[in-house]
Amino acid sequence: MIATDTPRCPLPMPFGWFQVLYSAELAPGDAIPMHYFGQELVAFRTEDGQAKVVDAFCPHMGAHLGYGIREHTGKGPKIVGDSIECPFHGWRWNGEGQCTHIPYAKNEPPRVKKGESILGAWQVREINQQILVWYHPQNEAPSWEPEAIPEASPDNADWGAFEIHTWDINTHMQEMGENAVDAAHFHFVHGTDDVPEAAFQEFDGYQRSGKFITKQPTPRGVIDGVIETKSFGAGLSIVRFSGIYDTVLLANVTPVAREKTKAMYAFLQPKATEDSLGKTVGKAIIANICQQMEEDQIIWDRKQYFEKPMLCDGDGPFAKYRRWYSQFLIEPTA
Ligand code: FES
Ligand SMILES: [Fe+2]
Repeated sequence: MIATDTPRCPLPMPFGWFQVLYSAELAPGDAIPMHYFGQELVAFRTEDGQAKVVDAFCPHMGAHLGYGIREHTGKGPKIVGDSIECPFHGWRWNGEGQCTHIPYAKNEPPRVKKGESILGAWQVREINQQILVWYHPQNEAPSWEPEAIPEASPDNADWGAFEIHTWDINTHMQEMGENAVDAAHFHFVHGTDDVPEAAFQEFDGYQRSGKFITKQPTPRGVIDGVIETKSFGAGLSIVRFSGIYDTVLLANVTPVAREKTKAMYAFLQPKATEDSLGKTVGKAIIANICQQMEEDQIIWDRKQYFEKPMLCDGDGPFAKYRRWYSQFLIEPTA
């Protein structure tokens, strides 16, 4: 018997780079309250365009920095230069967590005077039209850097704009990623005729890559498709579909809490597609992947994690996948 009031998946949140926003969601002078990694956070963009992420609670007296009042009611707080202004008493904090202004103090607190980083400040990278932060439960510095994806560069002339889809999933991220090596579920959950055949699958340090051949149902009939995947840690993946209609998917997942995950999928397709059948095929590929997410979610939202599942020879390389994933699982310091 498994009690229903215990965690379904008792694993810690993985460390690594994780997406919190798309670049386009945060204009200069804007701030957005966020909840990720079991914490309250605020993202803001300085007036000169730098994306910053800080802890939400003002070190002065604990007000949430992410909400404005008076003329800012319903919007974010005020951003002044490189700093976010607390709505409670107007203290200002920069993206490094230093207090840059106290409007009414004759004598500033010593830590402010010394320029100490007082407010929790996150490592941020803006790349591939996304805003990423580094999460580590023991506050260790980044051990690798996110990679630029040429198709997702903001000035790439050949690829169109992001088509964005997001899902809130009630499970630990490892359970979701495990689908990639779960050969048998494709038939039963997704109704595909074949099991994607792995041309290769490689686990290398914080990266994981693979190439799969699948039979894709399209308006032109069932066609062989090639899927190439690359993951950078637990949170960032790129999937390139070719053979049928070129599609690039930036498939990112971010822990909201231990058993809550936000999936952020951004699809890119070539700008120039004259042929309208091609366009229909392109749309069908995106619709098919989104449908698969919805099908998977029915399982993910409810399944129990088993440390030792009863596997058989037709199942995929689960042990390899879990061994690779375990490098990111560290319990937070108490
Ligand atoms: S609580 Fe933020 S300025 Fe007082
Ligand atoms: Fe799936």
